[in-house]
Amino acid sequence: MRLEYPYRTERFGAVRIHELQRVIEIDCGTQTYDDQLGPSRIVSRDAIRDVERDLVVVVPCMNEPRRVIEGVLSGIPHDCLIILVSNSDRQPVDRYDLEVGALEQFCRLADRAALSVHQRDPGLAAAIKAAGMPELIDDDGLVHNGKGEAMLVGMALAAMTGRRYVGYVDADNYVPGAVHEYCKVYAAGLAMADSPYSMVRISWHSKPKVRDSKLFFSRRGRSSEITNDFLNRLLAEYSGFGTEAVVTGNAGEHALSLELGVRMRMAGGFAVEPFQYVELFERFGGLLAPDAANTDVMTSGVSVLQIESRNPHFHDNKGDEHVVSMRTQALNVIYHSQICPPALKSEIVDFLGGHSPPAERIYPPVASLALDRLYDGITAEAESFHQIVQRLPARVRTVTPLQRA
Ligand code: GDD
Repeated sequence: MRLEYPYRTERFGAVRIHELQRVIEIDCGTQTYDDQLGPSRIVSRDAIRDVERDLVVVVPCMNEPRRVIEGVLSGIPHDCLIILVSNSDRQPVDRYDLEVGALEQFCRLADRAALSVHQRDPGLAAAIKAAGMPELIDDDGLVHNGKGEAMLVGMALAAMTGRRYVGYVDADNYVPGAVHEYCKVYAAGLAMADSPYSMVRISWHSKPKVRDSKLFFSRRGRSSEITNDFLNRLLAEYSGFGTEAVVTGNAGEHALSLELGVRMRMAGGFAVEPFQYVELFERFGGLLAPDAANTDVMTSGVSVLQIESRNPHFHDNKGDEHVVSMRTQALNVIYHSQICPPALKSEIVDFLGGHSPPAERIYPPVASLALDRLYDGITAEAESFHQIVQRLPARVRTVTPLQRA
């Protein structure tokens, strides 16, 4: 892959936010040299493959059409391990059952391994509780609904696979080629990162919409615009300089090293992605009391790469109310951050029409889970948990993805 160089970097303590880099060519051929002096940066196919072998791709899914899910699966590079975390209806039709069927069939045909679990499985909730995160459980004794919660479950499973990276792709993406490019970008970004604590966030090229019977490729996300603006204002409050560095506040498509991911608290619902920035600033920004467990991170720094894809993002449009709810959740987490200055708080309240923002659900880091207990609980009690093994031709006959810590 050939990408633009990010010339400028915004710093917030140990957090380095690189300005947006565009993909120049998705496949750069057989070149292996790294052209650090030219205007572009090459990440070789081998370097990308190396990361893919260590990459888990989590697919959060709630009631998406089977055909769309199948397309998404087909776009995930072969060497990545797939984890499906579903919150689909189980009645009157068991849609999760259909999803597992599609996943199993795909893995059988493609000769690959995968994991899947239903977010509302009582056995999963019991395992998470036993592993030490009762915060994730709601009043019904099940894991809270929400995309952020699904991502947390996915990250916990990923942490038990022995792989080093985790990425996320939505299940409602109509274009398998876009999913494929996102995963390639994750691998390229993680390979380029100058710290073991790294994150790659995708800024999609455009979102196609139909207007007057014509396709219009919109460059602006209605939620992202607001989220990015307020995150940049937060940065500017501390630096004293206006900035537009953050362009991926809502990036649903992102990947990170597990070394970093398991140390970060996560927010529930759609607050999850904007909260990642807030969490990085709070935890590694150097403003709050340092955590001795994170000394290494403070020394190496956290590298955030923002990369613009070539493919347009063609997905299910869930309506205006959904967009408003998403950006409100983003503003809620910025408002409630310990480092949000009073001036910015009042700007948020003004934007929200004078309403005081409610607090979102924030969960402890995955590193606080006892993964051995989680493994025991999930494998013994979660009836929805499926571990699809990969068949190998010679001697070793199967590869089982999950390992007990
Ligand atoms: N397991 C699970 N549980 N999956 C969920 C849940 C849940 O409670 N809620 C949503 N999902 C799945 C959906 O099925 C879809 O695959 C993905 O999460 C994204 O949800 P959407 O409701 O389709 O969100 P969106 O497409 O409007 O927003 C996406 O893009 C935003 C940036 O533009 C999301 O990725 C956002 O998180 C992101 O900020």
